[in-house]
Amino acid sequence: MNIKENHLFSEGQAMTKREPLDEAQLLADEAKYCSYGDTVHYVNPPNIFTDCRGSYVYNDQGTPFLDLQMWYSAVNFGYKNPRLDQALINQIHTLPQIASQYLHPTKIELSKVIAEDMLKKIGEKGRIHYNVGGSQAIEDSLKLVRNFCHGKSRMFAFEGGYHGRTLGASSITSSYRYRRRYGHFGERAQFIPFPYPFRRPKGMTAEEYAVKLVAEFKRLFENEYHGVWDPKVRESEFAAFYIETIQGTGG
Ligand SMILES: Cc1ncc(COP(=O)(O)O)c(C=O)c1O
Repeated sequence: MNIKENHLFSEGQAMTKREPLDEAQLLADEAKYCSYGDTVHYVNPPNIFTDCRGSYVYNDQGTPFLDLQMWYSAVNFGYKNPRLDQALINQIHTLPQIASQYLHPTKIELSKVIAEDMLKKIGEKGRIHYNVGGSQAIEDSLKLVRNFCHGKSRMFAFEGGYHGRTLGASSITSSYRYRRRYGHFGERAQFIPFPYPFRRPKGMTAEEYAVKLVAEFKRLFENEYHGVWDPKVRESEFAAFYIETIQGTGG
């Protein structure tokens, strides 16, 4: 089976027409001008993608690559979905962007949907605050927690959890490689083992492993000597536990 043929676009969905790329020149320019993030060069040389559809991205030769993120990790929408694309186009033609000081109907309507859903699912009333991405959402939540806990800044987080690249988010992200070059992180989280059943010790069921990890965490609060809890005043040095419930690539 020729995978290329299978992915040729049907009429009306032709790939974007363009002059063939000078990939060697682009890669040379990339090496010279683009920031050298630590995830771009997993493959050497990196692919340069020029088109997309559904679950696939395409290089200049039209070779499809299955993209399990399909936009990005938290928004796996699939590429060129006509309904989503049209909604984006409509929004750009209606109100593309307005300052956060101003109100518009969609903001209020979406807030209501999320708040009502939260109330139904977890029984908590709340209001919705928007920001521009994951790291900023984490930063906002750190502020909320610190405000609520009168400035307490120590957090628990899971080993393997990833929360973003800002300083606050890096301090609760487990991988040291995200902090290595940036000095001391005084507010680094205390990282707790993640109950990942595929990495459990030999001879233990997934359930036994989970029970063991919960017991180990509980033990921290048994007395003052484990460094997190003062039983006399029933107060913890820690303000929150940040949980990335489903770890994909892991932090
Ligand atoms: C669980 C989680 N939290 C936070 C972030 C950071 O989001 P952003 O890259 O939008 O800052 C990510 C990004 O991959 C994430 O997966």
